[in-house]
Amino acid sequence: QAVVAIVPAAGIGSRMGADRPKQYLEVCGQSILGHTLDKLLSHPHISHVIVALHPNDNIFNTLPQAAHPKLTTVLGGGERADSVLAALQIAPEHSWALVHDAARPCLTATDIDKLLASRVQFPQGAILAMPVRDTMKRANKQGEISATVCRDNLWHALTPQLFPAARLKDYLNAAMAAGVVVTDEASAMEWAGISPGLVSGRADNIKVTHPDDLGLAELFLMRAAK
Ligand code: CTP
Ligand code: MG
Repeated sequence: QAVVAIVPAAGIGSRMGADRPKQYLEVCGQSILGHTLDKLLSHPHISHVIVALHPNDNIFNTLPQAAHPKLTTVLGGGERADSVLAALQIAPEHSWALVHDAARPCLTATDIDKLLASRVQFPQGAILAMPVRDTMKRANKQGEISATVCRDNLWHALTPQLFPAARLKDYLNAAMAAGVVVTDEASAMEWAGISPGLVSGRADNIKVTHPDDLGLAELFLMRAAK
């Protein structure tokens, strides 16, 4: 079965607060989205990449990757899940959808391979994730600690997240219609009663969110290029 990568890139980067959406900021010689697309377009088992863009986007077409034969763009929506759904509309019925945030440029081929290989163990789909390392505290309204949360079975959800495309489309649609807050693909699958697998991924696969993350992404990309 073909693997189609879906890249939600229609966000505006409000927490970054830059002069343009964060996926178009430059790190290590090219845009964040350019780095992300390079990782996906060069992977031998990814046959196609669908990128969801903001309706007012006038930067994407200036990227060197824009004319790549494996790449198609669609218009994204108001929420991340709307953007993913827009891309799923054109994903082939029997393909696997590998959904990856535009804002995670430090993804490695090894982590993609690990997630793809996990389909044997997790035919229902799986996500890259990382076990929580720090002691976790729950806060009360005054900003005081109300409890220490046991971290034994706690993971950070990362992307890519890999699911059968048709099923993901159905459950994302249904979960959104039911008013569920869908912050990642797995949450829509969970809502439908499916338990996606957890595949341990690299800690440097960060989502560039705040200005401080730019330096980190640069460091990780430089290290990977060596
Ligand atoms: N995204 C999208 N469509 C949206 C919102 C987000 O395609 N309506 C994408 C972003 O471009 C990003 C990914 O989803 O690649 C993860 O979202 P996030 O990190 O929250 O990015 P932004 O929404 O752009 O940032 P912020 O929340 O700070 O505004
Ligand atoms: Mg956002």
